[in-house]
Amino acid sequence: MNTVRVSTSKEYNIHIGKGILSDIGEMLKNEFGVCTVAVITDDIVDSLYSNTVISSLEKSGFRTLKYVFPHGEESKTINTYASILSFLAENEVTRSDILLSLGGGVVGDTGGFAAATYSRGIKSVQVPTTLLAAVDSSVGGKTAVNLPSGKNLAGAFYQPDMVICDYSVIDTLPEEFFADGCAEVIKYGIIGDYVFFEFLRNNDIKENLKYVITRCVEMKRDIVNIDEKDNGIRAILNFGHTIGHAIEKCSNYTVSHGRAIAIGMVIASKSAYKKGYCDTNISEEIKEVLIKNSLPISCDFTAEELFGVALSDKKRNGDIIKLIIPEKTGKCVCKNIHASELLSFIKAGLG
Ligand code: GLY
Repeated sequence: MNTVRVSTSKEYNIHIGKGILSDIGEMLKNEFGVCTVAVITDDIVDSLYSNTVISSLEKSGFRTLKYVFPHGEESKTINTYASILSFLAENEVTRSDILLSLGGGVVGDTGGFAAATYSRGIKSVQVPTTLLAAVDSSVGGKTAVNLPSGKNLAGAFYQPDMVICDYSVIDTLPEEFFADGCAEVIKYGIIGDYVFFEFLRNNDIKENLKYVITRCVEMKRDIVNIDEKDNGIRAILNFGHTIGHAIEKCSNYTVSHGRAIAIGMVIASKSAYKKGYCDTNISEEIKEVLIKNSLPISCDFTAEELFGVALSDKKRNGDIIKLIIPEKTGKCVCKNIHASELLSFIKAGLG
């Protein structure tokens, strides 16, 4: 098992190992002692992994509770969040107990936000079951639910108390979900580690999950340790996301997050070169690794369509848009551009 230590406002460990779901009871008991654990999950993950987790917890002496909601982004709402809080209250969960989020990004974000706010904050344990959640959303403390007017508009920075990543679960993900996570993995190589990017060029992600997840989590840890509240360097984790989010929205969310980010990274890197923001055109290298991992490299939306929805992105700060520009593979910088320049930026990347 690999362990990565995070030192933010809260210090915690991320454990990455094969088959460790069945050790969860002992891992939590060693760290926190015996208490009540409320397992929050979705219907699909529940049918696959709840029994393993709950029987491990009960064998170690924990009292367990389980709250299951329907899978999918549609569940990431204030209603689900409020129902979880009521469930915790009805079952007399206290501040010395644990909320364990078992699932992908939707479960982790919603469960994490409930943990952040129930009784002004209880212990939060993240158990990611997708590659995307393992390398991104389970680490770093961003928790949120969506509002009708936008994604992640109600939330909190709330670091987990432990992350337990059993990569044998991730190994068995359907290909389409696995590829989504690969886009975020490739992003880490581009933003922070040329050697890792070369590794991804020459090796298979699935065959190297322990190393790949550990390396991504270490990179995220290093960024979040410096900028926990997302006031500076943390923005580089959003490489490809401004255009990626626009693609997701334009497609009415039929293009998944990972696929949209993949295309967003190609457009942003190509445009950054054509616009003279960097000296190297790395879009061809990026395309090669994306294709190798069954990810798309282009879309049919026009620059005008993408520009229209990108302008409504909540990450906008007035008329200034923060773009993440790859100077070369392994190094990205933030560049503020005026909103009016975004259309020609997207055009250059599509052309
Ligand atoms: N997913 C981007 C971040 O955690 O900042």
